Amino acid sequence: MTDYTDILTETHGRVGLVRLNRPKAMNALRGHLLAELLDALRAFDADDSIGAMVITGSERAFSAGADIKEMADATPVDLMNRGLSDGWHRISTIRKPIIAAVSGFALGGGCELALLCDLIVASETAQFGQPEITIGVIPGAGGTQRLTRILGKALAMEMVLNNRFLKADEALQHGLVNRVVTVESYLDEALKLAGEIAARAPVAVRLGKEAVNSAYELSLTEGLAAEQRAFYLLFSTEDQKEGMQAFVEKRAPAWKGK
Ligand code: HXC
Repeated sequence: MTDYTDILTETHGRVGLVRLNRPKAMNALRGHLLAELLDALRAFDADDSIGAMVITGSERAFSAGADIKEMADATPVDLMNRGLSDGWHRISTIRKPIIAAVSGFALGGGCELALLCDLIVASETAQFGQPEITIGVIPGAGGTQRLTRILGKALAMEMVLNNRFLKADEALQHGLVNRVVTVESYLDEALKLAGEIAARAPVAVRLGKEAVNSAYELSLTEGLAAEQRAFYLLFSTEDQKEGMQAFVEKRAPAWKGK
């Protein structure tokens, strides 16, 4: 699938960029948009010339969440048949790092999409919230779980039960985002960060992402074992030999991605 209607894709060196492109609907995440997003991320994930990805929206809205108009009349079976949550889950199966470049509203599924990314660069106008309670539901794409793990119970409860928004500076203070920059520079900053990561040893980057994310899934003992296996495995790569040799020879390493 390449002639997308709800997203735009670009490459910037070794970085794949996806722009959510439903500006009139605040980048509401209808099923079609999610399918296109997943398709684009998978294509970048499979492309050896790409090392990291960035997802962004517009200055006004990263995304205002799942498309309320599309969901309003759905029955539970409709949602199941549409595979509503499967699409979201599949984003977490992308192996290369994904950075969310967030400006303006990141609400509901939009906040959850940012949480599915590995790093978040926010503009000073960014606002994160789970307003589902105001339309009679709760987050359905991980918000109650991921926000609670990152922010703790107190703040997560306020967001989920009482529509509390987190402004960019609060999000930074609570460790939800990596950095807050001006609205003029948030996308460039995200592309720069992605470019830096994309220039690093590719197999180590993938295993590093997997290991950090497994801290949210596993016990400490299991997580440490997973980390150790990944660490040992990297000693089978040419890049490990090259990286250590380059250090000894005081030169820059030339990565092969194998
Ligand atoms: C469909 C949406 C939308 C959404 C905005 N729009 N959010 N359409 N789904 N989530 C549309 C509006 O209907 C409007 O279209 C246009 O975008 C501009 O929005 P306005 O409301 O006029 O703009 P503004 O007054 O600036 O308010 C911005 C806003 C507000 C604060 C972001 O739009 C808002 O509260 N949106 C809903 C946020 C929300 O509840 N999200 C959670 C969704 S549930 P028209 O055609 O009227 O111009 C969810 C669950 C995920 O995400 C579960 C996944 C499994």
